[in-house]
Amino acid sequence: MPATAERLCHFTESVIREMTRVANQYDAINLSQGFPDADPPPSVIEAAVKAMQQGPHQYAVTWGAPNFRQALIEKQQQWMGLDLNGDEHVVVTCGSTEAMIVALMTICDPGDKVIIFSPFYENYGADTILCGAEPIYVPLEPPNFNFDPSVLREAFKQKPKALVLCNPSNPSGKVFTLEELTLIADLAKEFDTFVITDEVYEHIVYSPHRHYYMASLPEMFERTISCSSLSKTYNMTGWRLGYIIASPEIIAGARKVHDFLTVGAAAPLQEAATVALNLPRSYYDEVQQDYTRKRDLFLGYLDKAGLRYTRPQGAYYVMVDCSDFDVTDDITFCRWMAKEIGVAAVPGSSFFHEPVNHLIRLHFARDEDILHAAGERLQRL
Ligand SMILES: Cc1ncc(COP(=O)(O)O)c(C=O)c1O
Repeated sequence: MPATAERLCHFTESVIREMTRVANQYDAINLSQGFPDADPPPSVIEAAVKAMQQGPHQYAVTWGAPNFRQALIEKQQQWMGLDLNGDEHVVVTCGSTEAMIVALMTICDPGDKVIIFSPFYENYGADTILCGAEPIYVPLEPPNFNFDPSVLREAFKQKPKALVLCNPSNPSGKVFTLEELTLIADLAKEFDTFVITDEVYEHIVYSPHRHYYMASLPEMFERTISCSSLSKTYNMTGWRLGYIIASPEIIAGARKVHDFLTVGAAAPLQEAATVALNLPRSYYDEVQQDYTRKRDLFLGYLDKAGLRYTRPQGAYYVMVDCSDFDVTDDITFCRWMAKEIGVAAVPGSSFFHEPVNHLIRLHFARDEDILHAAGERLQRL
């Protein structure tokens, strides 16, 4: 038999999904794979039922149904402070997952370099390799997950085509400050580099931290490819609705790539999701409050158990330091924890390029009774 592609040798199956299998095997509370217990708002589900009954059921316009794009830009204009046009500035994709790989394929040729902050959401490494590009990793040093500006400058000197920015960040919970974003933007302009953002947690930010959009910084719209999705904001990770917002030149290329990869996102779900995009501002306040409550509840249990962790500024993950348990192999530790403590986490090493083996990632987008149960179990650590 002929061999499968050589590029597959450079990345492994997702450790996160493997941990979900381990959680199921030991009947552990699954705090590994990061999706919420909550459902989408009832009005959105009603709209989905109606769309199923009345259509549309056939392909939408490949780059997104016009009413979805319109609702999207009306919402994003308010949050991003940009003047956007649904005909020129948007491609609707199957989640931010597709948006990210489309963004990379739109701008990268084989051999191009791409800066990725480490720890990173595991898709970025694989996406880069699938494009034939080469990652340059820049460390975000635990426990504060700050980067060294001189290391970043050295990475830019290698003339990368793009920098990938996950903000708010999975797994670290970091929210980049305006000063950090400005520093990155200045380097991107100086070295003529694109910035690809993944902003799926844009509405999950804990006060006093604040999310700034890279695309909204002075002179950055032209070189920023903003990727995000409805998955986390409206509890619809299974609907697979995401998007790219960028300049008309980039969008023209991205539409071509997207068309040949997936044709389009689900037409009836785009129809229903316009209801989500039209929700009032108070909805987003509630999302913030709800996640702030969950975060504080869960961190309370970590404090009670005497665990050391980095306080998340955004997203719904917390990185816990396990060095007090003499952990040198976080994968074995996570398997042991699922079996003996009954809580499944993700080994931190799966997010780092560097050899970091003392951190685990837990997510708290679970119902409060489950967070209480997991918190109680963690006391046994
Ligand atoms: C940083 C980040 N980007 C993208 C995704 C996937 O998003 P989507 O469901 O929009 O594909 C996730 C999911 O956990 C994520 O954490």
